[in-house]
Amino acid sequence: MNNRVIIFDTTLRDGEQSPGISLNAKEKLDIAMQLAKLGVDVIEAGFPIASPGDFEAVKTIAKNVKGPVICALARIGAGDIDRAWEAVQYAERPRIHTFVATSDIHLKHKLNKTRAEVLAMVETGVKRAKGYTSDVEFSAEDAFRSDLDFLCQVLETAIAAGATTVNVPDTVGYATPEEYGKFIADINDKVPNIDQAVISVHCHNDLGLAVANSLAAVRNGARQVECAVNGLGERAGNASLEEIVMSLYTRRDSFGYETGINYQEIYRTSRLVSNLTGIAVQPNKAIVGKNAFAHESGIHQDGVIKERTTYEIMNPQMLGIVQSNLVFGKHSGRHGFKQRLEELGYQLTDEEIDKAFKQFKDLADKKKQITDADLEALVENEIRKI
Ligand code: KIV
Ligand code: ZN
Repeated sequence: MNNRVIIFDTTLRDGEQSPGISLNAKEKLDIAMQLAKLGVDVIEAGFPIASPGDFEAVKTIAKNVKGPVICALARIGAGDIDRAWEAVQYAERPRIHTFVATSDIHLKHKLNKTRAEVLAMVETGVKRAKGYTSDVEFSAEDAFRSDLDFLCQVLETAIAAGATTVNVPDTVGYATPEEYGKFIADINDKVPNIDQAVISVHCHNDLGLAVANSLAAVRNGARQVECAVNGLGERAGNASLEEIVMSLYTRRDSFGYETGINYQEIYRTSRLVSNLTGIAVQPNKAIVGKNAFAHESGIHQDGVIKERTTYEIMNPQMLGIVQSNLVFGKHSGRHGFKQRLEELGYQLTDEEIDKAFKQFKDLADKKKQITDADLEALVENEIRKI
């Protein structure tokens, strides 16, 4: 079985469904450009039928972002699929991601459909998407709470209709790692045509198990992981991209899998997403939290000074975390200022830098030392405000 894990980023779709987030098209494009630099394999750019804004954002990303597959989400109906294609068709490598729920709870209370009706919808919908592009992903929403035999029938139907990736979401974050790993292994065993598709997983973090569940799935045959920067997503969020990637890397002795991620861009991407979404990263968040590499106790400090690996299992520099020795104040120059903004995730135009630099000098006249938080506030409040 191949050992390459496909990283499917859904920051701009499920991540944007986090309460309180609303990104405009320019912000989404900035994030998508940064995700391409980060080296994700697939960018889920949005849900085109959801709003004209989402449609435009997907279209803009499809036209401008090169490298990753660009994916648009659609429910299984014709209207959604056609609209998704209208937006994503401009991508170098477009994907349509279509979904329908498969659990009895959803069939009864949400869709009011029988299992036979859902099976027919899957066949028709996937075939319609396949008429547009060879790259079709099918998701069985609430897969983990679905009847396993019915789910296997649905996935077999989706693959026979042309799906090249089949996603098995734990939509409500109900699974535990042992169960979810076994669930994926069972799907691998029971779906007769499974070797014609990539098994994907999409875990929500309601019990704080999204990353552990995704990793258990990879050990049992999944080769695409859907995740979001800083773990953003509906309710408690999706599996965190940086945690998945760094677990696979740091414990490669145990997992033996590879990703195409450019680790140096992890921190910058996290900062950019936090700044543009307005969702702060908790200080003790693994990998990218402010305290993730901070050592407070004397014993730990002493250890790290003698040898970093006494208390650090990852090298922060590898993630692009630069402990700046530069102190910003009124004597600082434009070059260092621009560099620090880039380290914080901002790619500004020359005109924006000029404007920001002027504001920075005004601030420096009032405040002796300018912190990263001041720089971020300055860009957010003065430069990026709409
Ligand atoms: O959580 C979920 O099931 C989803 C699907 C649309 C993939 O977000
Ligand atoms: Zn989801």
